[in-house]
Amino acid sequence: MTLITITDGPTFTLRNAHLAYAMRVNARGVLEHLCFGPSLAEAPPPLSLPLRHCTVMLKDHETLSLNDLPQEYATAGQGDFSAPALHLGARDNSVLGLRYKSHALLLDKPPADSLPTARGNASQTLCVTLQDAVQQIEVDLFYTIWNDHGVIARRSVIRNVGSRPVSLRQVASTALDLSPGEYSVQHFHGSWAREFNEERLSLPTGRFTIESTRGTSSNAHMPYLALIEADATEVTGRCYGMTLIYSGNYSISVERGEFGRIRLLAGLNDFDFDWTLEPGEDFVTPEALHGFSPDGLGGLSHVWHDFIRAKITPERFRDTSRPTYLNTWEAAYFDVSEQSVLQLADEAADLGVEMLVLDDGWFKGRTDDRRALGDWIADPERFPSGIPALAQHVRDRGLKFGIWLEPEMVSPDSSLYRAHPDWAISAPGRDPSRGRHQLTLDLSKAEVVDHIHAWLDALLASAPIDYVKWDMNRNMTDLGSGARAHRYMLGLYRLLGRLTQDHPDVIFETCASGGNRFDLGMLSYMPQGWISDMCDPVGRLDIINGASHLFPPDVMAAYIGPSPNHQNGRISSLSARYMAGLPCAAHGISLGLADIARSRPQLQQFMGQSGKSAADRLGSRFDRLRKTAQETIWQQTSRDCQTVYLIAFQVLNAPNLPIRQVRLRGLEPMATYILQDGRSYKGNQLMHYGLPLDQPTEDFSAELLILKKVS
Ligand code: GLA
Repeated sequence: MTLITITDGPTFTLRNAHLAYAMRVNARGVLEHLCFGPSLAEAPPPLSLPLRHCTVMLKDHETLSLNDLPQEYATAGQGDFSAPALHLGARDNSVLGLRYKSHALLLDKPPADSLPTARGNASQTLCVTLQDAVQQIEVDLFYTIWNDHGVIARRSVIRNVGSRPVSLRQVASTALDLSPGEYSVQHFHGSWAREFNEERLSLPTGRFTIESTRGTSSNAHMPYLALIEADATEVTGRCYGMTLIYSGNYSISVERGEFGRIRLLAGLNDFDFDWTLEPGEDFVTPEALHGFSPDGLGGLSHVWHDFIRAKITPERFRDTSRPTYLNTWEAAYFDVSEQSVLQLADEAADLGVEMLVLDDGWFKGRTDDRRALGDWIADPERFPSGIPALAQHVRDRGLKFGIWLEPEMVSPDSSLYRAHPDWAISAPGRDPSRGRHQLTLDLSKAEVVDHIHAWLDALLASAPIDYVKWDMNRNMTDLGSGARAHRYMLGLYRLLGRLTQDHPDVIFETCASGGNRFDLGMLSYMPQGWISDMCDPVGRLDIINGASHLFPPDVMAAYIGPSPNHQNGRISSLSARYMAGLPCAAHGISLGLADIARSRPQLQQFMGQSGKSAADRLGSRFDRLRKTAQETIWQQTSRDCQTVYLIAFQVLNAPNLPIRQVRLRGLEPMATYILQDGRSYKGNQLMHYGLPLDQPTEDFSAELLILKKVS
């Protein structure tokens, strides 16, 4: 299958059934962007740029001003006044003028050092090399297109081909100049326990940036930004989404210039960034992804969901149902012991749950969050038999065993810190700031990465551990250098690469106080994540709804927590708490003995149902049918299209509500679907007229309708 064509000029066209992306080398050697959008047979002709007044033209040219010419990797200093893709330090003069040098078509997608990238099977990659003869810099721009996805991957490699060091101040993974148009910007912001809040604004003139300087991709802003046609809905309108396969300091921006050109930039954050490139060295950026759908926000989510499952998350778990679990955190917090954990394991077995997860509090001296991180051996008083024996006892009850770890951290009150105070991130002459009373280990140092690898590898080898919750509970400070923050990420990815390769059957779950580092970088190693510490049903609805714009249900975990909720105090029914997490691939419980005793039959029923339907949630199609402050309605259709789950919530009840009815999506028009109560419908009836919903009977009411396709 030909995905990339190269014609005279050269002009490069990447095209599959979902999209087309084209660029050409113009008469001045500038790599000019032609189009990104629907898969048209012919790319549109280059924009004809009228004569502007008071702009700067390229030498000896009447109309060619870089300030409105759409480019592939723009730089500053020759007439383009928008934010540049690549910016050098100004000490030796930062002017750059990148011009075409050569290109190559690659059938194998090249790796990017220790950075995670999307898997390249069924893809083709184009590498276009640009150069600046004065600065003696070369830039490889990599573009990958797949046979069957509405996604283009981009990254760049900067090479110093000169004889003096060069300072890199800004290195975007991608720069995309789109033609003028009426768009809205969609992005997701939040904080601890209220992640993934959607915000939309009309695309302003000027620059709008989302970013992180916290050392994690952060819950303040998920590294995802979409440009959507101003009147786009869930099912109509052209939508462009953009994200990074990266978990650290990033920036994504959109800028509309005075002539309407729209520039999207994504990559490492230039905050505090200064990377010295010695002669002969190169610098590899994280990979960026551009998704496109002509079918609205729902269409764009389907593009991302399919892509993330096929090309990002570990293949080993793609088709593996995730075990239901009982997690000790909100059941007991730090008050855990061998005896109490085994008691919970007995309860878990009785409830039909498949795995017991021992959360925080199990290691030496860890009786609260002020101490012991770094000393990863079982507390001899509370866990005298040690982790291998405990894991085996749990296994003997027919359960899998999972454990919580926070490997990147150290408590000042720990043996590790006392032995290696220099392993914690700090700035010269300063006592570092604390977050949750802890410090961050400096993973930019090879000996720190090796130390963490050694104890973790030994722990995983010593005990039958099926699952690891990999937590990270503070933002980074005291780094004093964006380059150091990036080196940290390279160290972390090396560590995760080694561990997941050597322990391929362990399910790793990414967590950072919930969703403080929920991104495609971490999900390249871990099949699922703990997206939020908020388990209240109303809070969860917004979080899952927001996260679902980018992430498929396959990567989400949810458990039934206590009521009143520990984060916001809300009292809610067990059923509402269960239903709010229903689309997630992994289901669990985090309740103490008394709560379990009170709700045993219902918990048995829910966990049984979760176990039976687990396979349906993998690779499922997820549709946001309705989202208002009062109502959330989701449709989840199993990959084999045989079962449709309709999950409908009404937040606050009210008397005499209007008739409730909802239209479904993506069904087979002539097929028959039967509800639990025996009512039957044709697919086209459900899609065009809809399904009636019950009137709510209480606040936070949740209704689950399951439709089976029978013919
Ligand atoms: C973080 C996680 C929680 C729990 C605690 C343990 O806050 O998000 O789920 O694991 O750490 O300390």
